[in-house]
Amino acid sequence: MPQKLKIVYYVEPDAQALATRAAEYFVEVAERAVAARGRARIAISGGSTPKAAFALLADPAQPWRARMPWEKLDLWWVDERCVPPDHPDSNYRMTREAMLDHAPVRPEQIHRMEGELEPETAAARYQSELRKSFRLEGAELPRFDGLALGMGPDGHTASLFPHTQAIHELRRLVVANHVETVRDSWRVTLTWPVINHAAEVFLLVGGEDKAQILQEVLIGPRDVERLPSQLIAPANGILSLLVDRAAAALLPAPDAQGCGMLERNW
Ligand code: 6PG
Repeated sequence: MPQKLKIVYYVEPDAQALATRAAEYFVEVAERAVAARGRARIAISGGSTPKAAFALLADPAQPWRARMPWEKLDLWWVDERCVPPDHPDSNYRMTREAMLDHAPVRPEQIHRMEGELEPETAAARYQSELRKSFRLEGAELPRFDGLALGMGPDGHTASLFPHTQAIHELRRLVVANHVETVRDSWRVTLTWPVINHAAEVFLLVGGEDKAQILQEVLIGPRDVERLPSQLIAPANGILSLLVDRAAAALLPAPDAQGCGMLERNW
């Protein structure tokens, strides 16, 4: 059945402005969730734009630090590289260094994927943690209040890489995924039905090298094997895209406020 997706995009002039917009967005998502449900369960990705946004969020000289409802936050990961938590490639390490070491969050609010374990074990353990924390029954999916994604120049999002097993997974919440194209490595990732079930999904994309693929993902024909980012179609029908001018170069020009909209009917 065709599913209508509205893609709302906000174009910022450069990487710094994009990080600023992302920090603002993180705080707004958390504020909305806390106002509605008393807590904010947020899932985050790795990558350069989130890193800059995380540093802004934790910076006492910036306005977001005081606004973020830190004590009501539950932080989860969208994906992790299969390395120990102190490894330079670890998404957890990046987040800890950029934000968690400088922010008032307690260890029990932080739910990291255990990249140091055997990949299938790490995925199974994360799935159990999700089921327990979200009190899931049967085939229920967890609903994150906010879920932040990035996109690679090959069209991957989360650790759903082109032509890999994980893009076919419909049943499990979390899987191990072998990625030949990234140094033959393993990743652990949320599956796309879980991603799409989040209350708010936002995609952060910056840089010239993403312009072509972003256009293909959003406007091109459906080809999810080659462009797994096309699997992202949140259940609420809206995907928010925070993007810099370089990455948005091939999208329809935004309005005077830097805002654009696309509709997709598949
Ligand atoms: C990861 C990610 C991944 C990332 C994209 C974009 O662990 O690598 O979660 O999906 O979001 O590769 O990364 P950049 O923002 O650095 O381009």
